[in-house]
Amino acid sequence: MTEDIINKKKRIFSGIQPSGNLTIGNYFGALKNFGALQNDYECIYCIVDLHSLTVRQEPKNLRQHSYSVLALYLATGLDPEQNTLFIQSHVSAHAELSWILNCYTYMGELSRMTQFKDKSSKHADNINAGLFDYPVLMAADILLYQADLVPVGQDQKQHLELSRDIADRFNKIYSDTFVIPEPYIPKVGNKIMSLQEPERKMSKSDENENNFVLILDPYDTIIRKFKRAVTDSEKEIRFDPVNKAGISNLMGIYSSATGKSIADIEKEFSGINYGEFKIAVGEAVANELKPIQEKYNSLINEKDYLNEILKDSAQRAEHMARKTLSKVYRKVGLVPRQF
Ligand code: TYM
Repeated sequence: MTEDIINKKKRIFSGIQPSGNLTIGNYFGALKNFGALQNDYECIYCIVDLHSLTVRQEPKNLRQHSYSVLALYLATGLDPEQNTLFIQSHVSAHAELSWILNCYTYMGELSRMTQFKDKSSKHADNINAGLFDYPVLMAADILLYQADLVPVGQDQKQHLELSRDIADRFNKIYSDTFVIPEPYIPKVGNKIMSLQEPERKMSKSDENENNFVLILDPYDTIIRKFKRAVTDSEKEIRFDPVNKAGISNLMGIYSSATGKSIADIEKEFSGINYGEFKIAVGEAVANELKPIQEKYNSLINEKDYLNEILKDSAQRAEHMARKTLSKVYRKVGLVPRQF
C-alpha cells in the first residue's frame, strides 16, 4: 500500500435544506459538528435545494435561503478550501443516481418513513411523489460520494438506515459499488425540542415562532423566547424527559452550548428558580451565536465571493460524483456515452 492510501482521510457527507431560516436544532444537531469534524475528515457539505422542493417554496426565498445556508456554513467556521460546500442542483448526478436507486427501493420501505407520515399530515393538500421519494434522493446524495460517515440529528436516522439498505442491496446484486455509510449522531443536542411544545421537535417550518430559536435571531429575541419557554409546575431543575420535557430540553440545549454534562448542570442550578435558569440558557445560546451572526452579516452580501465558492466546490463535487455514477451506469447495463 502506498503512503497515500494509508493516510487517506475518511469521507463525510451531510446536507441541510434551504427551506427556511435555520434553527438552533439544525445548529446543535448538525452544523456545530460539521465544523468540529473538518480537520479529521474529508468533508462534503451540501445545500440540498432539490429536497426543499418537496414542500412548496417561494422561489425568491428558496434562492435567498440557499445563499444563507452557505454563509452559515462559512460563519460557523467551515473552511471553503478544505471542505466542499456546494448546492445539490449544481451537480446533476444527484437527480440521476436518485432515478436509478428508485428502481432498487420498495414502496413498502418508503411508506414506513416517519418523516413522510409527519409531512404528509402537515401538508395534506400537497402529498407529492417527491415527498414520498425524498429518502431515495438522500441516499443518492450520500452514496455518490462514497461517504463513510454522515453527521445528522436523530430525526434522520431512519433515512440513513434506508440508505444503508439500498447500498447493501445494490452491492449484493452487482458486486461492491457503494461504501455503506455510518450515521454520526451527537450524544447531546441530537433532538432539540420545541420551546412551547417540548414533546415536538423544534422545526424551522413551524408556524409559531416562539417554538423555535433561529441561529440569526437577535440577542434580545433569543432571551425573550427562552424566558417564555414552557416548563412544569415543579421547582426542581432535574433531567427527566418524560415528566419534565420542557426543563430537560432546556438542560440539553444548555449542555450543547456550554459542553457541561447534565449531572454538572443539575448541580450548578440546584435550588435556583426556573426563571433564572431560562435566562442562563438564553444567554449561553445568544453568546455562542453572536460571533456567528457577525461573520454571517459580513458575508451574506458578498455574492461574488459566495458564487466563487459555489463554482469551485461544485466542480470538485461533480468530479467525485461522476466517477460513482459512471460505475453505476456501467454495472446496471447502460451503454456508455459516446461524446
Ligand atoms: P434538514 O434541513 O431538515 O435538517 C438539517 C440537519 O439538522 C438536523 N436537525 C435537528 N437536530 C436536532 N434537533 C432538531 N430539532 C433538528 N432539526 C433538524 C437534521 O437531523 C439534519 O441533520 N434530510 C436532511 C437533509 C439531507 C441530508 C442528505 C442529510 C438531504 N440529503 C444527505 C445528510 C445526508 C434534513 O433533514 O435536513
